[in-house]
Amino acid sequence: WTATRDKSCKLPMPKGSMGFPIIGETCHWFFQGAGFHASRRQKYGNVFKTHLLGRPLIRVTGAENVRKVLMGEHSLVTVDWPQSTSTLLGPNSLANSIGDIHRKRRKIFAKVFCHEALESYLPKIQRVIQETLRVWSSNPDPINVYQESQRLSFHMAVRVLLGFRVSEEEMHSLFSTFQDFVENVFSLPIDLPFSGYRKGIRARDSLQKSIEKAIREKPLHTQGKDYTDALDVLLESAKENNTELTMQELKESTIELIFAAFATTASASTSLIMQLLRHPAVLEKLREELQSCGLLHDGCLCQGELRLDSIVSLKYLDCVIKEVLRLFAPVSGGYRIATQTFELDGVQVPKGWSVMYSIRDTHDTSAVFKDVEAFDPDRFSPERCEDREGRFHYLPFGGGVRSCLGKQLATLFLKLLAVELAGGSRFELASRTFPRLISVPVVHPTDGLRVKFFGLD
Ligand code: HEM
Repeated sequence: WTATRDKSCKLPMPKGSMGFPIIGETCHWFFQGAGFHASRRQKYGNVFKTHLLGRPLIRVTGAENVRKVLMGEHSLVTVDWPQSTSTLLGPNSLANSIGDIHRKRRKIFAKVFCHEALESYLPKIQRVIQETLRVWSSNPDPINVYQESQRLSFHMAVRVLLGFRVSEEEMHSLFSTFQDFVENVFSLPIDLPFSGYRKGIRARDSLQKSIEKAIREKPLHTQGKDYTDALDVLLESAKENNTELTMQELKESTIELIFAAFATTASASTSLIMQLLRHPAVLEKLREELQSCGLLHDGCLCQGELRLDSIVSLKYLDCVIKEVLRLFAPVSGGYRIATQTFELDGVQVPKGWSVMYSIRDTHDTSAVFKDVEAFDPDRFSPERCEDREGRFHYLPFGGGVRSCLGKQLATLFLKLLAVELAGGSRFELASRTFPRLISVPVVHPTDGLRVKFFGLD
């Protein structure tokens, strides 16, 4: 590895092991999952060095350390995804943009997730969730929740967000190509026939071709506030910012949005369903809240469209979603590179080293959460408000200038799913015990979580 300590800095290097040449500790990381970082953190401390996916890396845990990294964007650090991720997402993606270009692109994207836009997506998202739950309930066999939630979030992204009119068959083939893409986004950057990286490149090229076709065939509505989908809002927003998006930019943005939404939302949906199964009292309390707000009558959800304001007013629902995202944060952290040598927790982070800030480990080790391993939605109630102790103890959506752009949409989606589950479904665990969880690439149960859904009697 080329990255070495900064000799002009008196501070010691972080402790840690660099593993084997070239592959470093990638195999340990892959097989040990969450245990990899936890074991090294216990051995070496909150800031330790390792070598993953072809490069040396300093892994950072703890609210104060993470705050320094996230607020140091542009001054101490800048974005630095693994080479495979960077190449597969493309040069026009937000993930690969820095400085003014990133700021400008984010401004254009922000409108896609504004209140008005979310209000216009809401009935369509609700319909997709209802249809999916109907299909799950009509299946005589148990559902693999994680697998089906991936399909649901892909469906939401392609049909609702992007407004693509693709046939079931095309959707199926797009989904399978997309899975190949996602599976190889974090691969070793070795471009050989049959390597994961090559498979990822092939999947990306095929997706771009299909997306170009769908964009060219899509009727665009770019006038007025009555948006049909996010692509319309994106084009209008670009115009307002005096920018014309090229086809290549549109293709890369589209893949980036689906990618950002896909595994994260599927992971959170699965964790939500698992926690509602594990904690019937929480499900009951959600039902009581829906009832007291007039959304549930005689055990059935009221017909008619929900408004964004009614969803936002459901305070217990908000606590449940926050707690799911605290205990089962789908994204384990984010990658940066040090643009200058700086101090963190008494050690040096030398210029040029990759830095990964940890979300899940920071949640798991934060002292502000009482009984940190317990699923306790009330910790976010106005009376307890355990996350008031500073922003960086709770960061499922990251923080700073690169925080999640789709945070409001993801939260809305999860809330709508919870409302439909609490108000319109019966479901039971179909395995004898709850499955173990794996954390790579996102948190998910080993067997996908097998659940039998029933329609309401
Ligand atoms: C960035 C989490 C859903 C779009 C991020 C980051 C996190 C995150 C932690 C920051 C990564 C970093 O610091 O490098 C999540 C979680 C989700 C979710 C937990 C679901 C529960 C979504 C959805 C969309 C989205 C639904 C859009 C449709 C984005 C984008 C970025 C991002 C575009 C990059 C922002 C930038 O680089 O400026 N997300 N996300 N996310 N997310 Fe999400």
